[in-house]
Amino acid sequence: MGSFVNPFKIGKTYTPENFIDRKEEYSYLCNAVESGNNVVVVGPRRFGKTWLLQKFIAEGGYPVIYLDLFGCFSLKGFVQKMMKQAYELLKGKNPMSFVGRYLKHIAKHVSFSFDVGGISFSIDNDLSDELLIEQMYELLEGVQKDLKKKLVVVLDEFQAYKSISEKLPESLRSFYQTQKDVVFVFSGSMRHMIEELFFEESGVLYHSCLRVDIGKTLPEDESIEYIVENFNSTGKKIILEDAKRIYRLTKGHPYFLQLLCYELWDKAGELISEEEIDVIFDSLCERESYGYELIIETLEYKYLKNVLKLISEQTDGYFSIANLQKYKIPNATTLNNLLKKLTERGIIEKFGRGKYQIIDPLFERYVGKKLW
Ligand SMILES: Nc1ncnc2c1ncn2[C@@H]1O[C@H](COP(=O)(O)OP(=O)(O)O)[C@@H](O)[C@H]1O
Ligand SMILES: [Mg+2]
Repeated sequence: MGSFVNPFKIGKTYTPENFIDRKEEYSYLCNAVESGNNVVVVGPRRFGKTWLLQKFIAEGGYPVIYLDLFGCFSLKGFVQKMMKQAYELLKGKNPMSFVGRYLKHIAKHVSFSFDVGGISFSIDNDLSDELLIEQMYELLEGVQKDLKKKLVVVLDEFQAYKSISEKLPESLRSFYQTQKDVVFVFSGSMRHMIEELFFEESGVLYHSCLRVDIGKTLPEDESIEYIVENFNSTGKKIILEDAKRIYRLTKGHPYFLQLLCYELWDKAGELISEEEIDVIFDSLCERESYGYELIIETLEYKYLKNVLKLISEQTDGYFSIANLQKYKIPNATTLNNLLKKLTERGIIEKFGRGKYQIIDPLFERYVGKKLW
């Protein structure tokens, strides 16, 4: 396609020109941090939590330490990453004086080196977890004081905290009772775990955070405009009806909307046709189907397929006798339990009274085509 590059974007790195809507959520997040409140961003996988956080990091105007807990499997690794970022925030410090000033109690356990990714810190194995946690907070506090600004610590995929330390939530709780200028922004995909931790009375971090819900799909008008504009300004042509079709198929799910557009741009001819949209959507579904089979197999719930089928075909009245019979579900309790479990797993989402939807539009397509 001449000199044009594919304008659609999937992946971890947020780009402002690919960002649709989320205005309310973004301004709520900014206001919460500005007023010194901790925040949790909750929502299903691939709904745009990380992108929202990255927008905040790029445009919010605060010094930020960002840690994705998903890939992290030790407290030591976690603290080392934090050190690196803290160091980089304090532009101009040299590493020796950084360690001497902010990590003075553990200085002899810390070394550093330089490579392509810049500086990296490493902590030896002699420190206990308790001491490491303590020092981590001392570091944050020290850095914040010297920056003389609010310091924001973003902990993405927080539901994975156990692989770092079981004690992380408790220690956070005591830390932020002692000071106000280090603000935490958490995000998490496993809704029920996040709910338990932050929003149930028994949760360790109960009443400690405001909440930003990324539970809605993208708005129709703005998404369609985005699709039309991005095809039509990069040497392709799409008519409004077909942009609507993309929106309808992906249901405005951020990830799948970008993915379908990306693949279409890549594979289809200059003029995007209705058939191509369907063919590519189906091929994406095919590509993912192994994963869907795996989900169904590993969940091992009896009547799982029946319930998925019911949700994908019916918009309400799930509990009616006719529906229970049609989908061969023995009784309302079984259905209720499964709805609950699937919601907890982030596979379906409640969106209105007694109405559920399979979150992933390709999974829904898979259920429609492959289950019978
Ligand atoms: N506001 C948005 N507008 C357009 N596309 C988005 C938006 N947010 C997310 N996306 C798309 O969805 C993908 C997944 O988003 P991400 O933030 O990684 O989700 P999460 O962190 O919730 O799993 C991104 O790579 C991007 O393609
Ligand atoms: Mg994410």
